[in-house]
Amino acid sequence: MSPDHDDDQADEYGYFDDPAREYVITDPRTPVKWVNYIGSLSFGGIVDHTGGAVLCAGDPGLNRITKYIPQTPASDFKGSTLYLKVTRGDSAQIVTPFFTPGLDELDSYECHVGLSYQRIVSEAAGLRVDVTIFVPPGDPVEVRDIRVTNLAADAAQVEVVPVVEYSHFDAFKQLANADWVPQTMMSEALELDGGRLALLQYAFMRKDLAVNFVSASVPVQSFESDRARFLGANEYGTWRRPNALLAPSLSNYEARRGDNIGALRLDLGTLAPGAQRRVATFLGQAPRADVPGIVGKYADPAAVDAALEQQAESWESALSVLQCRTPDPDFDSMVNIHNARQCLVTMNWSRYLSLYQLGIGTRGLGFRDSSQDVMGALAADPDTSLALILRLLSIQRSDGSAMHQFYPATMHADHGDAAEEPEKGKLTYGDDHLWIVLAVAAFVKETGDLSVLDQEIAFYEEGTPLAERESAPVLEHLARALEHTRTNVGRNGLPLLGYADWNDTVNLPGNAESVFNACLYGHALLEMQSLCRHLGRAEQAEAYRVDHETMAERVNARAWDGDWYARYFTEDDEPLGSRRNSHGSLYTNGQSWPVLAGFAPRDRATTALDSVRARLNTRFGITLSGPGYDGYDPEIGGVTSYPPGAKENGGIFLHSNPWVMIAETMLGRGDRAYEYYRQINPAQRNSDIDLFEVEPYCYPQNILGDEHPQFGLGRNSWLSGTASWTYQAATRFILGIRPDHDGLVIDPCIPPDWDSFEVVRRFRGAQYRILVRNPNGVSSGVVRMTVDGRDIEGSVVPFLDEAEHVVEVVLGPLAAGAARPVPGSLQPAGE
Ligand code: GLC
Repeated sequence: MSPDHDDDQADEYGYFDDPAREYVITDPRTPVKWVNYIGSLSFGGIVDHTGGAVLCAGDPGLNRITKYIPQTPASDFKGSTLYLKVTRGDSAQIVTPFFTPGLDELDSYECHVGLSYQRIVSEAAGLRVDVTIFVPPGDPVEVRDIRVTNLAADAAQVEVVPVVEYSHFDAFKQLANADWVPQTMMSEALELDGGRLALLQYAFMRKDLAVNFVSASVPVQSFESDRARFLGANEYGTWRRPNALLAPSLSNYEARRGDNIGALRLDLGTLAPGAQRRVATFLGQAPRADVPGIVGKYADPAAVDAALEQQAESWESALSVLQCRTPDPDFDSMVNIHNARQCLVTMNWSRYLSLYQLGIGTRGLGFRDSSQDVMGALAADPDTSLALILRLLSIQRSDGSAMHQFYPATMHADHGDAAEEPEKGKLTYGDDHLWIVLAVAAFVKETGDLSVLDQEIAFYEEGTPLAERESAPVLEHLARALEHTRTNVGRNGLPLLGYADWNDTVNLPGNAESVFNACLYGHALLEMQSLCRHLGRAEQAEAYRVDHETMAERVNARAWDGDWYARYFTEDDEPLGSRRNSHGSLYTNGQSWPVLAGFAPRDRATTALDSVRARLNTRFGITLSGPGYDGYDPEIGGVTSYPPGAKENGGIFLHSNPWVMIAETMLGRGDRAYEYYRQINPAQRNSDIDLFEVEPYCYPQNILGDEHPQFGLGRNSWLSGTASWTYQAATRFILGIRPDHDGLVIDPCIPPDWDSFEVVRRFRGAQYRILVRNPNGVSSGVVRMTVDGRDIEGSVVPFLDEAEHVVEVVLGPLAAGAARPVPGSLQPAGE
């Protein structure tokens, strides 16, 4: 355990190493596979802690490389592994240094989960095997940089055997069609310079376009491309002990069909006691003609070192945009390393490829999801964020609504789950299009780049050639998004639900209304008002102000339920999320969002958030709603397909927790915001893994709620809007460092017992060292601020030149009449 993290129980499966920016797994028998992401969507994927890998190039559904089936037992072969054959004197031994699939006890094992690399170091049979797995930036190849050291007193003859099992490029067909797929899969050896060899593999129709390859930095002693031959005995051999490893060499068979693998036997020769050998193995995909160049490049260890160095530098540059030091080391570890990394991973993979979202057919990059992901990642990577924003805008329709998701390889868009239930008659989600307003506003505030607003983007129109489609500048896209919601309202004047809003699983028939959509619209209106004011478009800003006021009145007139806000109204005007409902009577998002929207007057905001605390808070997080529905009801939809306490049906759906944190900071209740932050911090669960089960170094999407017998169990780790929003809650609202059109707002809302904290923030080319002191033990209220020693009125740091600046901030009780920068309805603010 790292000394900083104050877990008081033994860490059973691993520890945080913050200086190295790693989590180190020390027991390979984790409750479920714990994974890391390498490379990017253009080439990369997931590597688990036992070296298994699911890799793809450009699109996990349409261009899959390895076969990895998460649903089979963790002990199985999953996509990729490494064997060693070690001969000392007359006795030979097969070792699997990643633990699987051999499952023999290792003398030691560590998996360093690093920033875009996985390093597995283990000892067995008198050898130390140290393997770093990563994708060199910009090249379509996974490199496994292997060092083998002989720790024993006698010489060892060592062969290493990397093995991958291929998937057909169409990941769904691989699983669904065992006739066509095996007849098309083929392998072929390609001799390279220096005695090296690449074993190519492709589906027949791609033989000239893009071939997969395995290769190595050293000559290949022999190879195998057919799984049955490798396992032996017509596949009654096993991955645990493949028969082919007992023979003096592999059969050099070039498969013309069947289950293709890529296995290479690499002879490292004899290692004297203490001797070390280094070899790199490669798995890539490229046009056939490019293969020799890629292998040649990384056959040179200096190129491997340089690529690792380059990758580390790019992480350093991304993470250095914000680094904090607070009294809570678990908070710092997440904000400075793991949560920041998860934001970038989530922006890259959306909800497309994880051990839970399998990248097969049904989900591409989501409009709602990616718009939110961008908000957590844009400070660290504004270029990628902007590129994604523009792609999302290209699947917005001219009526302002948006397609639900798109597939990156083809830019084809579809309606997601809505299309699966045609009987509901609704294809559009009522919220999707509104999220992009938040993303663009956040991008402009971060970068100051107004030119994006003028970029001309065509609207989505399936079947119409691009040149013939209507197009409009980005600002107009945003205006149409708002207009779509303004004009699509139900009997109470609240926005229509559509197929669903943020909560995918409440699917009410007919013209049901969504209070969430009203609030998201309200929040988007606030953003557009300030953007328009900043652009000098006073009239447009005023129109949005009026729309905001109108919707606030409707929400407050119809949705206030006494102690909280109702969440939906059916077509017959029956509320859901009301005290009148026996199940699903209170929804968390129905309370946080009226505050985020600036709709809730202060007394209602307080009462609503207190109701959440009293009724929905648990020690592992706030549940999404309660009490859980206890039977399937097609009129309500997917939420009732889960048992009470699971997922959206009363589970702790983590994504909604940071919204409560943000709302609490708007009320000035820093102790509560922090308590909610801390109770879902996965680092807190490091000593509780047998219950939590999933990775302690990233947020899962959900934890089973207190109505479920397995209360506390996490699932669906990595790809969740929790990453972006918890990062925003921590940095923009708890630490309170918020980019705005006029400068950097400093408005912390912290637990009163934090006496100080420090943040280094890069913003628009300058670097700010922000030192916050809290001598009076308050939560919020900036009473004094200096920049480079000069007093500044208010709490906005103006734009400065490209140098380093020191900002000193003192918190204390605000003078009468002074206000924090929170939405109008919550004033007067103060402790
Ligand atoms: C999943 C979806 C997200 C949705 C949430 C709640 O996380 O990816 O789009 O908002 O579930 O239903």
